[in-house]
Amino acid sequence: MAPTQKHAQRVYLRDYAAPDYRIPGIELQVDLDREQTRVRSCLKVERSGDHHRPLVLHGEKLDLISVKINGETLDPASYHRDDTTLTLNLREPATTLQIETEINPAANSELNGLYASADTLCTQCEPEGFRRITYFLDRPDVLSVYRVTLRALKDQYPVLLANGNQVNSGEDGQHHYVIWEDPHPKPCYLFALVAGPLQFIEDRFTTCSGREVLLRIYARSRDIPQCDFALSALRDAMIWDEKVYGCEYDLGQYNIVAVEDFNMGAMENKGLNIFNTRYVLAQPATATDHDYRSVRDVIGHEYLHNWSGNRVTLRDWFQLSLKEGFTVFREQQFSADHDSAGVKRIEDANLVRTQQFREDMGPMAHPVRPESFVEINNFYTLTVYIKGAEVVRMLSLLVGAQGFLRGCSHYFEYYDGEAVTTDHLVGAMEAACDVDLSQFRRWYEQAGTPRIEVAGDFYPDKSRYCLCISQNNPDSSGGRQPPLQLPIVVAFFDAEGNALNAQSENDGRKQHEHTLVLTDPVQEFAFTGLKSQPIPSLLRGFSAPVMLQVDLSDQDLAVLAGHDDDPFCRWDAGQTLARKEILRWLNDPSICALDEHFAESFGKTLRAELPDRAFQALALRLPEENYLGDFVEVIDPEGIHRSRWSVMQTLARRYTDELLERYHALDAKLPYQRDAASAAARALRNTCLDYLMTLEEGSVTALALKQLKAADNMTDALAALALLANQALPARDEALAFFEDRWREYPLVMDKWLRVQAVSRCEDTVARVRDLIRHRCYQHDNPNKIHALIGALAHTNPLRFHERDGSGYQLVAEQLLATDAKNPQVAARLASAFNLWRHYEPGRRERMHKVLQNISGAEHLSRDVGEIIERALVKP
Ligand code: PHE
Ligand code: ZN
Repeated sequence: MAPTQKHAQRVYLRDYAAPDYRIPGIELQVDLDREQTRVRSCLKVERSGDHHRPLVLHGEKLDLISVKINGETLDPASYHRDDTTLTLNLREPATTLQIETEINPAANSELNGLYASADTLCTQCEPEGFRRITYFLDRPDVLSVYRVTLRALKDQYPVLLANGNQVNSGEDGQHHYVIWEDPHPKPCYLFALVAGPLQFIEDRFTTCSGREVLLRIYARSRDIPQCDFALSALRDAMIWDEKVYGCEYDLGQYNIVAVEDFNMGAMENKGLNIFNTRYVLAQPATATDHDYRSVRDVIGHEYLHNWSGNRVTLRDWFQLSLKEGFTVFREQQFSADHDSAGVKRIEDANLVRTQQFREDMGPMAHPVRPESFVEINNFYTLTVYIKGAEVVRMLSLLVGAQGFLRGCSHYFEYYDGEAVTTDHLVGAMEAACDVDLSQFRRWYEQAGTPRIEVAGDFYPDKSRYCLCISQNNPDSSGGRQPPLQLPIVVAFFDAEGNALNAQSENDGRKQHEHTLVLTDPVQEFAFTGLKSQPIPSLLRGFSAPVMLQVDLSDQDLAVLAGHDDDPFCRWDAGQTLARKEILRWLNDPSICALDEHFAESFGKTLRAELPDRAFQALALRLPEENYLGDFVEVIDPEGIHRSRWSVMQTLARRYTDELLERYHALDAKLPYQRDAASAAARALRNTCLDYLMTLEEGSVTALALKQLKAADNMTDALAALALLANQALPARDEALAFFEDRWREYPLVMDKWLRVQAVSRCEDTVARVRDLIRHRCYQHDNPNKIHALIGALAHTNPLRFHERDGSGYQLVAEQLLATDAKNPQVAARLASAFNLWRHYEPGRRERMHKVLQNISGAEHLSRDVGEIIERALVKP
């Protein structure tokens, strides 16, 4: 690696060693103040094993006041201290250690450790923030029981929250204090406290064994009317985890706090989740249907961590996917049980294919269980989260749903209160299901997206069909990695789209759907009982996170797009047709007519009366520009945008009447309803409007304006606004002004307003984004704002981010460096926008390379950004 990062040390999984000391108990007394918070900690420290190594505690940005061992104050000469550690020699095998420190929450712009968000003080400790609160063994395999006393001015901080159950409280003069106890041993990354002028709503939940739990959501008083939905989602998640996994909540209280300044989505701190307001607040006027689902899913996600993450936790940060991949999978199941399961699966699969596969293509490619890192915060990645979830899903496919739940129970019971590894989860499946998953474990070790090639041969005289499936697992330098074990679910259809029951020669079963298990580089699977050449439906339900290559004719794809009973495959067949069509336009700019198979298949989907309109809306949408880039040698973002836009426009011209008719028919003029069917109708209707807007006709623009102004819900308003913001017409400014005027007091809604401008295809987008940085609603230190404006341009507007003159890169690089000085984690996420620079056409490649070099040469670059940039610059 280049030497920009003087202190950047790389940490390796292979160097893991168990801690030298245990800390079974900690008492914290925190005297809260915006600028001067006193932290007194009393640790019970026990030596692990027989050794004379010193105790090396982590600590950063702490003012050390005093250290006492067994009650005796230490002379500073008797311990060693540097920027990141405090080293002590302990004579006895068991010691009481008292450490007093002072911190300044108001100065904490990284939002890591104890910080201020508006009038509230709150914490974020995962992964290594606790060391910014007090000296400690800040590693997840040190588990302690906490007793926490919070003390603060009554009028400034009327609410004082920490993990566990409230056991006592009282007043002294202008101050008051609250004592919290969490009986469950936990790693310090799950510690949390909150102090502030907050209000709450509450509910009570009786667990399956009859214990009563008090549920509360805390927020600023103006946000309280928007918290009901989140509270009901919490209840749903509690019921669901009991019913499906047999997991019961284990404290008398469950608190959620919504704060405006938060680096990520939310955090599963034991009994005291802290959330970004964006995943709590929801009411019809301000939250889209999509927002509602996100709130439900994230509330579910954090709740589900109580078992997958908290009760059974991580041995070290390389195991991050053990809690995140597993919990995302559980969240997906929870979500699928409360909505259209098919649509949910398509969306999740699409995310893996459009985003995680791209991560694998670039310099940040890493295994689900990484082998090394410089900054662990850079590994809260799509690979760890969503590829990790796909790996767990494959486990459940391989051992069967029932076996999987048995394996989970075994895992939760056996490792309760322990800090373990991904191996333990796989091992629990082996033990509970009596299977050998040694080859499967490679999914945690190998980086990259497997490529699966399928060829089909039909033997009419024997009514026999053979699938020859090969897998190729290239590593980042083009080498070959060993084959993986993976499930490919298949089925067959005839030319009319009827489902066929073929008999497998492998297991003798005659049925519609078959699960093929790949283990070798090349394998054959034969089926009999097929009278004519069948059409294979492959990778049903996206049964494995792989790139699938199969040569199906456009005719076959059209049959699947119209009839496949697997939602993912049906959707994917349509997407494949669309992708081929767009790439055909891209490769031959003289084309101006649509391929008939594609156009007809689209028309059928548009005219169909499908029971699931949310599916229909998805099926009509063309593949995203970023995804199309994965199918070309060198990426020309402008060319991709133009051909995709032209295909859309040509479809809209051909089907104008149908689109208009659908649009108006779905406009039932009923007052807003939030149920899934109504949401699906809105999705379909707005998809029609999306096509119609490409016609660039005054009458359609007027329709969109009318929709924006008349909407009684955010879904319809935002859909119209986004489309209007995409056109350089006077209506654009009218729409933006109308929306701003109405929602200026709602930060989360203004985030949407910023975002639609940042992702606009209009030529002046970069200039507008530059202006918006100075807009009154923009806040340089608020992660949501940075993501909504700069992040959206960098990650979701390939056309304008990759502006030929480099102005998009320039703007993002500037903002990245400005952000890095305050909040490295947020800056690092902007930095990743340059990761795929090697894949672009030469002009853009050169420009991105220069920008990367400039960033890399900047002074005081954070470890976070440094790691991303150096990886991008290193020769593959
Ligand atoms: N652990 C959080 C989750 O549930 C994510 C997170 C990571 C939040 C780091 C804050 C900091 O996904
Ligand atoms: Zn999580």
